[in-house]
Amino acid sequence: MSGIFFTFEGPDGAGKTTQIGRLEGALAERGYETLRTREPGGDFVGEQVRQLLLDRSAMIPEAEFLLFAASRAQNVAQVVRPALESGKIVLCDRFTDSSLAYQGFARGLGLDFIRAANAFATQGLVPHKTFLLDVPVSVGKARRSTGETNRLDREAEAFHQRVRDGYLAVAAEEPERFVILDGTQSEDAVFTLLWAAVQALLP
Ligand code: TYD
Repeated sequence: MSGIFFTFEGPDGAGKTTQIGRLEGALAERGYETLRTREPGGDFVGEQVRQLLLDRSAMIPEAEFLLFAASRAQNVAQVVRPALESGKIVLCDRFTDSSLAYQGFARGLGLDFIRAANAFATQGLVPHKTFLLDVPVSVGKARRSTGETNRLDREAEAFHQRVRDGYLAVAAEEPERFVILDGTQSEDAVFTLLWAAVQALLP
């Protein structure tokens, strides 16, 4: 596979989507072919699953995780791998580490099971680099309050604290894959750091 696979992670309200948009623009300006996707979502099936997951109806944690995994399996097979095979730079808004932080840590499903199921869903595909936008829970909450909230956004503060702690723990275990960016900085300052890290990885 000749492309490059970048994933973007962080608590809700960390500013991932804005940064991915800027990165996509900067790469395109320099002539790189990119593909942007997101989880849950990606292809038609993944987007249908997304509707179910973000709806406010009650869902048990096990069902929640399996739906995220189903969306991931579709996205990897139908969207991400084909783009990598054609040499593109793939930018994915959330991936396997979201399940580790949200379902493994915050919902308490346990990391070993989530890791094994992630490997099944992705058939072993691992990102080349993962950018973690880290923000304290209070900052994420303040930023979320301006947008539409989904079922996970509405969880208690303690849940969001576990998500943040979970991300930092997962990142500490794989320091060579993760780049942690301080998401409390200005949008421009975060992008400057992100762009420097990405440029160092480009062919
Ligand atoms: P989304 O609206 O895409 O949020 P954001 O803009 O913050 O990425 O909603 C995705 C939600 O799903 C978000 O709250 C994180 C959650 N999620 C999981 O809990 N597990 C997962 O594996 C993934 C991919 C997302």
